[in-house]
Amino acid sequence: MFKICGSRLVALNEKRLLFSAANVNIRCLATTSTDPSASKEPPRHFGDLKDQDRIFHNLYENYGHDLKSAMKYGDWYKTKEILLKGDKWIIDNAKASGLRGRGGAGFPSGLKWSFMNPPGWEKNPGPRYLVVNADEGEPGTCKDREIIRKTPHKLVEGCLVVGRAMNATAAYIYIRGEFYNESVILENAIHEAYKAGFLGKNACGSGYDFDVYVHRGQGAYICGEETALIESLEGKAGKPRLKPPFPAAVGLFGRPSTVTNVETVSVAPTIMRRGPEWFSSFGRPRNSGTKLFCVSGHVNNPCTVEEEMSIPLRELIEKHCGGVKGGWDNLLAIIPGGSSVPILPKKICDDVIMDYDALRDVGSGLGTAAVIVMNKQADVIRCIQRLSSFYKHESCGQCTPCREGTTYLQRMMDRFVTGQGKEKEIDMIWELTKEIEGHTICALGDAAAWPVQGLIRQFRPLMVERMQKYQDELGKKVSYGGWVENSRVLDGKVVGAPKPHIH
Ligand SMILES: Cc1cc2nc3c(=O)[nH]c(=O)nc-3n(C[C@H](O)[C@H](O)[C@H](O)COP(=O)(O)O)c2cc1C
Ligand code: SF4
Repeated sequence: MFKICGSRLVALNEKRLLFSAANVNIRCLATTSTDPSASKEPPRHFGDLKDQDRIFHNLYENYGHDLKSAMKYGDWYKTKEILLKGDKWIIDNAKASGLRGRGGAGFPSGLKWSFMNPPGWEKNPGPRYLVVNADEGEPGTCKDREIIRKTPHKLVEGCLVVGRAMNATAAYIYIRGEFYNESVILENAIHEAYKAGFLGKNACGSGYDFDVYVHRGQGAYICGEETALIESLEGKAGKPRLKPPFPAAVGLFGRPSTVTNVETVSVAPTIMRRGPEWFSSFGRPRNSGTKLFCVSGHVNNPCTVEEEMSIPLRELIEKHCGGVKGGWDNLLAIIPGGSSVPILPKKICDDVIMDYDALRDVGSGLGTAAVIVMNKQADVIRCIQRLSSFYKHESCGQCTPCREGTTYLQRMMDRFVTGQGKEKEIDMIWELTKEIEGHTICALGDAAAWPVQGLIRQFRPLMVERMQKYQDELGKKVSYGGWVENSRVLDGKVVGAPKPHIH
């Protein structure tokens, strides 16, 4: 094992470039300087990530995903040295890099990992777990599966490095059940790493023992929520837990644990190798790094691509996805961060940049950076109705506001697609979203509320217009619940059509 690590240090001269301080700091000084004269510099353009700055070189599978290929493009390089630096060094570097969780909420990763090591943590001997969230259920998101499929060793090495930071004894990778092929690739990579001495007892010759297990889920969106995931891993139904206690105190099997996303874990070894300044030199302050963006919907070439954080949305789409179908002027709206975040109309998309703060400032969020594009041929009310249907289906049913609220949201949105409703009901559904938001155990409630809120905020006139059209075509007044004059339920059947879609 030592031999493998040692000979690689000598042989891979090109990898030394990765550690070149000069290479790293030029960009860094340009962006993070606190010198007041820095403000006189013209505003920096973000984007245009160079190949040498990509973490996920193999995103388009130019190489194999086996250990030998992975080592050729830099994985498992100096891992032993990183481990020997210790937990504090890894956490301090993660903090300095500005890395924020890539699972959706954007919580600072170094800080999160540090919660596993409160003063006196050593006095609580026994297993401690890193739990990797590879559930990837958020509609529009397709990055974690790409990492596992094309560069599984980045994740496996990341487990070891992040696990070391948390003083974890093992990692459990919870992978969505449908990702069968990915789980096979991942198991193979883990097997290769054990065989090479990178995992297990005395991992990489560092004196640190660490195991990695893969657990296949059963395909429920809610199992991506961290505490539901832990329940599911323990063999129970995937229902979120009330917090506190937080997983870092009482997590998997009652032991200290931290759940973190595949992408967050996979970028950690490269950050440790190239230095936190290198990583934080990308994107705006507080929004650092390179990021995988998944673009789907009405673009000419849907893709998952690694780019610099804070890249303008328009540039992301035009440069990497061949533009919007029908051209930029044919754009209607974009959901910028997976189905849970509010939709943005074209006028905001024209110049918004893709980072946590910029998207929050325009009333949306970066979420998982899954960009869903809708051109003018899309029926935006129908699109949001489809999401309401999804959230209703995926609610675990524990909290009344979520269980009942998502059902009402879906029923109302079903009617709004055809315009079967009364304008006042738009205010009612808005109020309903406010009753759900923030009143539930987990964030699925918020995730169900925000797409509807976004629709009303940005497209209310369209909703009203559709209701008016429906009423005009029917030639009758439409009341609350979509009912019209003389319609009623008789013996369990709606008579005096039209029938409200669902009651
Ligand atoms: C309903 C729901 C589903 C979620 N699904 C995922 C998921 O599939 N993958 C993921 O990484 N995080 C998901 N999350 C977020 C996780 O709860 C957790 O915040 C995340 O894994 C933390 O990783 P990070 O710190 O690396 O961002 C979900 C959250 C909710 C509320
Ligand atoms: S918010 Fe919804 S999904 Fe989350 S715990 Fe409550 S009922 Fe379950």
